[in-house]
Amino acid sequence: MGKPGSDRAMRPLRECDSATTVTDRVPLAAIVLAAGLGTRMRSARAKVLHQLGGRPLLRYPLAAVGSLEPERIVVVVGHQADQVQDAADASGLPGIRAVLQEEQRGTGHAVRCALPALDGFAGDVLILYGDVPLIRPDTLRRLVEAHREQRAHLSLLTVRQADPTGYGRIVRDPDGRVRGIVEERDATAEEKTITEVNPGVYCVRAESLRPLLAALRDDNAQHEFYLTDIVALAAEAGHRVTALESAQPDEVAGINTRAELADMETTLRARTVERWMAAGVTFEDPRTAYVGPDVEIGADTVIGANVTLRGRTRIGRECRLDGTSWLVDAVLADGVHLLFGCWVEQAEIGSAAVVGPFARLRAGTRLAERVHIGNFVETKKAAIGAGTKANHLTYLGDCEVGPDSNVGAGTITCNYDGFEKHFTRIGARVQIGSDTQLVAPVTVADDAYVAAGTTVTKDVPAGALALSRTPVKFVEGWVERFRARRRRGR
Ligand code: UD1
Ligand code: MG
Repeated sequence: MGKPGSDRAMRPLRECDSATTVTDRVPLAAIVLAAGLGTRMRSARAKVLHQLGGRPLLRYPLAAVGSLEPERIVVVVGHQADQVQDAADASGLPGIRAVLQEEQRGTGHAVRCALPALDGFAGDVLILYGDVPLIRPDTLRRLVEAHREQRAHLSLLTVRQADPTGYGRIVRDPDGRVRGIVEERDATAEEKTITEVNPGVYCVRAESLRPLLAALRDDNAQHEFYLTDIVALAAEAGHRVTALESAQPDEVAGINTRAELADMETTLRARTVERWMAAGVTFEDPRTAYVGPDVEIGADTVIGANVTLRGRTRIGRECRLDGTSWLVDAVLADGVHLLFGCWVEQAEIGSAAVVGPFARLRAGTRLAERVHIGNFVETKKAAIGAGTKANHLTYLGDCEVGPDSNVGAGTITCNYDGFEKHFTRIGARVQIGSDTQLVAPVTVADDAYVAAGTTVTKDVPAGALALSRTPVKFVEGWVERFRARRRRGR
């Protein structure tokens, strides 16, 4: 058994410690506990459904477990069982199934509920909690490997925490052998000073697990069946118990409160941003960048402060996002320049396009290459042709604009009649003057000009000028007469 910090516990991975070595020799199954409500979250929503990096918490430990390719993965569900099961199914892992723990009577009881799903299984069972999202696949792999190398009946991960509050403490005998785990609420003042804690990751031989669980009792502060008690039971029975100290305390942090969730979001965000920096992306202020787990960013792209990239956003190479922008499921080709303060959702931006500042590109926007969309322009279901510009104060919805056209300031596609949306078609090389209303359905054909201030209610033929202005007239001397009247108080 490795003492904390001993060579064995801290040894680096060897060449042969691959996933295949670990999972192929002896069958592996996994149990992930996710039935609790998470009272300390003060939420009606089950804890494992709270979002971290845009995904439910549960998805993270499942992904880590999944990478070891266990032949069965059992998720214990209870609170909001259907939604938790949906979140588990969404992981798409083969061999995953949910079992119901109707009443939450403790982590040991939860594992008992999982046993029927392991009927006929002989091998090692990896057990972990659904509220430990940063656990690394490598750490799980090392635990399984150590367990097998040392022919242990039960192995557990441990970690040193400067502040061990809230965790179960690892109790060792004077020789450094693990004797058991004592929960914070049941710990003596002396035990509370122990800084080696239980992150809640175990590997147990299936044949040992069944009798150990059967022997659990609920005579503790919380009147629950603690899974942690199987460690003392195994040690007392003379089973071989191994502890592996994790070198990275941050990865085993459990989430019990909103504050811990926020801390973890920060950690996760930093990890993701570091990964993209390593891949050649510049972040001017990494602390304020939010990059979701499914986002992709090309090399030599520069991202300014306060940029949020969510969903399946894809950013090309050599793009520049000046700052304070919100992108969800956005696709940016290479060399796009997003000026300050843009909102882009389900929109595609072609190469070398320039957007913003303060532009809002809504669902169904498709900008071809070199398009310019300027300040206070909103687009929705709008296909804009190459090189076309709409630089100021404009609404382009349910429309198509050909290449090399110019849409003047204050142009509005009037697409909605209170019942239906109607389409506006603008051709190539068209000049739309400022303050134009295009009353859809309407077409402005290629090379047409629309004079400033025009309300277009009929199709404009190719090459024509459309004009609906009232002629301007002058009333000479009017201002002087007006002012004089006002001064006299009339
Ligand atoms: C648990 C450990 C503690 C450890 C800590 C690490 C026990 C008794 N204590 O405490 O030693 O330091 O995790 O984070 O195991 N769950 C069920 N059914 C239940 C109870 C819990 O499925 O009846 C699930 C929860 O949904 C959760 C996980 O088990 O995902 C852990 O439960 P939680 O209440 O968070 O345990 P902790 O008090 O954190
Ligand atoms: Mg917990």
